[in-house]
This record gives sequence, C-alpha cells and structure tokens, in this order.
Amino acid sequence: MTRKFAGDTLLVATHNKGKLEEMAHLLQPFGVKVVGASDMNLPEPEETEDTFVGNARIKAHAAAMATGLPSLSDDSGITIDALNGAPGVYTADWAETENGRDFLMAMTRANTELENLNAPHPRTAQFRCTLVLAWPDGHDEVFEGVAPGHLVWPIRGKDGFGYDPMFVPQGHETTYAEMDRWEKNKISHRAAAVSKFVAGCFG
Ligand code: IMP
Repeated sequence: MTRKFAGDTLLVATHNKGKLEEMAHLLQPFGVKVVGASDMNLPEPEETEDTFVGNARIKAHAAAMATGLPSLSDDSGITIDALNGAPGVYTADWAETENGRDFLMAMTRANTELENLNAPHPRTAQFRCTLVLAWPDGHDEVFEGVAPGHLVWPIRGKDGFGYDPMFVPQGHETTYAEMDRWEKNKISHRAAAVSKFVAGCFG
C-alpha cells in the first residue's frame, strides 16, 4: 500500500530550475504548494550511486532529514541505444565545465559519438525520470516514467532545458524544445512519473 501525502506543501528536492518549473506546473491541479531546494537553502548532496533510483533516494532522504518535510526528488537523464545507454545517470555530468553546465557541449558530444560509430537512423533514445518521495521517518515511495523517441542533429527549438533541443518524442515531429511547456508536460517522462506519483500518493 502506497503511503499517502498529507499536507499542503511539498518540498521538491532539486536545484534545477527547469525541473522545478515543470513539476510545479504538473502539480498545479492538485492544489499543492511546491517549494524548491534553493528556496530552503539546502545543500546539493553528492550523487554517488550508479542508478537513477539510487541517486533519487540520496536527494530525497537528505532533504527530508534536513527539513522534516516529505520531500520529492527527481533523478533523470537520457539513455541512447547506440551508446549502450550512455549518458544515462551521467547525463548532467556530460555538461559539466569549470564555469557551470554547458548543454550544447553535452549534446555535441552525444552527436559526435553517434557519428563516430556511424550509428543508423533513427537514433533511438529514451528520457527517463525517477521520482522518490521520502518522509523524515525514512520511508519512501518510488515512481518511474519513460519517454521513448529519437535524436536529431542539428538541434532545434528554444524552449525547455538540458537535452530538449535534440530529442523528438515518439509519435511527434517536433523536439521537446520546439514544444511549449503545456505540450511537453502532457507527454514527457516527468509527466509519466508524476501521474504515477499522483495516483499513488494523492489517490
Ligand atoms: P540530475 O537528475 O540532476 O542528475 O540530472 C539530469 C540531467 O538530465 C539534467 O541536468 C538534464 O540535462 C537532463 N534532463 C532530465 N530531464 C530532462 C528534460 O526533461 N529535458 C532535457 N534534459 C533533461
């Protein structure tokens, strides 16, 4: 039996503005006030696991312990079939530079590796999102969402964040970055995980 969320404020344990905005938008219909990790001055714990769920657990439990609030974390990324699932849990790491994250560099690396392998088209990939809701007593619940699609080059679109400009979700012709937030949030990996979270914890 999934433990229910009781309360009016949900701490979303992320410093990523793009994720936080999408989450607030997705949870709008449920009347929950969403606050982010930056609003609470929470430190960013190190993500030392090699699975999405492992890293999501680290972030959710650290936030729940620090604040005493039920805390929802999101660990997500893209898995590219021709690269044997890379970058996967290292999706954000591919963007890391001395001066912050550079997603054009990360997308260029993905495309270059595919070109070097002469990978056939369509270059299939999946966006994955694992949500963990952790309570201060150590209990947690896990919800996963996947969005299959393929990668394009050159990149297209100005909306969204991260790898959005190179990803075309299955059944569509536009990239995530060419969709408005409303359209992306109907079909995304994050939307799929959030709908399981809502059914489990608010149902
Ligand atoms: P982490 O979950 O903070 O370790 O990082 C996940 C990384 O995956 C983000 O920094 C983004 O680059 C990427 N990512 C996750 N979800 C999305 C999305 O909806 N669009 C584009 N990139 C995403």
